[in-house]
Amino acid sequence: MTESRSKTQRWPVGRTGEISPGECRIVEIKRHSVGVFNVNGEFVAVLNVCPHELAPVCRGRVSGTTLPSPPGEYRWGRDGEILSCPWHGWEFDLLTSKALADPRVRVRRYPTEVHEDTVFVVL
Ligand code: FES
Repeated sequence: MTESRSKTQRWPVGRTGEISPGECRIVEIKRHSVGVFNVNGEFVAVLNVCPHELAPVCRGRVSGTTLPSPPGEYRWGRDGEILSCPWHGWEFDLLTSKALADPRVRVRRYPTEVHEDTVFVVL
C-alpha cells in the first residue's frame, strides 16, 4: 500500500523573529506560492493568488482599514490585519481570509504552527 499524496506535512518557513509584524515572507511549497504574514504576532499563511483575477496578492500592502463610524467621523483601525491586492486594491482580512467588500470572497488560508521559534505552514 502506498502513502497518500494528499497527506499534509509541516513546512518550515523561518524563525519567528525573521518575519516582523506587518511583514510577509513568500515561499514555494508543493509548487504553491504561499505568503506567511506576521499579523501582530499571529502567523497567517495565504495562497499567493487573488480570487479576483489571480494576482500575486501576497505582494500587496498590509495596513488597516476604516472602521464603522457616524457620518462625518473618520476612524482608522485594525493596523496590520488588512491585505490589499496590488492589482485592483481588493482588501482582505488576514485573520478571517474574507474580502472586506464581499465576505463570500476569500483568499485561501493554510494552518500555521510555531515550534521552538520556527514557523511552519501545514500543507
Ligand atoms: S486581481 Fe486582486 S483585486 Fe484584482
